[in-house]
Amino acid sequence: MPCPSYGRCTNGGDPMTSTPTPEPGERRSLSGHQRPHRGASDVWLTPPAIIAALGPFDLDPCAAPEPRPWPTADRHITLPDDGFAAEWGESFVWCNPPFGPEAGRWLARMADHGNGIALCPARTETQWFIHGVWERATSVLFLHGRPHFHHPDGTRGRANSGAPIVLVGYGRTADDRLAVCGLPGSHLDLTELGAAR
Ligand SMILES: C[S@@+](CC[C@H](N)C(=O)[O-])C[C@H]1O[C@@H](n2cnc3c(N)ncnc32)[C@H](O)[C@@H]1O
Repeated sequence: MPCPSYGRCTNGGDPMTSTPTPEPGERRSLSGHQRPHRGASDVWLTPPAIIAALGPFDLDPCAAPEPRPWPTADRHITLPDDGFAAEWGESFVWCNPPFGPEAGRWLARMADHGNGIALCPARTETQWFIHGVWERATSVLFLHGRPHFHHPDGTRGRANSGAPIVLVGYGRTADDRLAVCGLPGSHLDLTELGAAR
């Protein structure tokens, strides 16, 4: 079915469930999001529907710079303040981190904190995913389809994420939110893996 906003969609164009084929020239996507160390922007915003489904959050320690088109949490930390080194207290945290070499340390920080949800590409075979997700997360929600991230001004990226996306829960509140959020995906309680993980 033709779908002007999403390229060729497999389900009529729902941004959370469609798997579009990028149109010619549609190259800016999470692939850029994943390569900030090569010079591309790492400011790709989470679709507001994901925040709305999972929130509210107390803290976003790696928030988009002002002016941001929508809040992701009650408290935002933006560069040049260092949200990684900041005190997170008891906050329920939202973390869509910069990707590339930094992703692993943010997931480890989330695991240490133990109370929040992270978003990352489902690179399930990588060392950072093994150590930050498989070994330490409470649960995961593998999204069906590929979301479209947004530019800092709020406009939606033309191409989809370019990779499968997973939401990673640390702690029971996070697991509860992932279980009932209604986002199309496959939810797994990783604590049930026991010694296998
Ligand atoms: C992928 S964007 C996500 C933005 C927002 N959290 C969201 O979910 O829409 C990653 C953000 O992390 C910010 N960032 C990177 N390192 C940071 C740090 N040490 N402290 C605070 N923000 C940081 C970048 O400026 C960028 O806005």
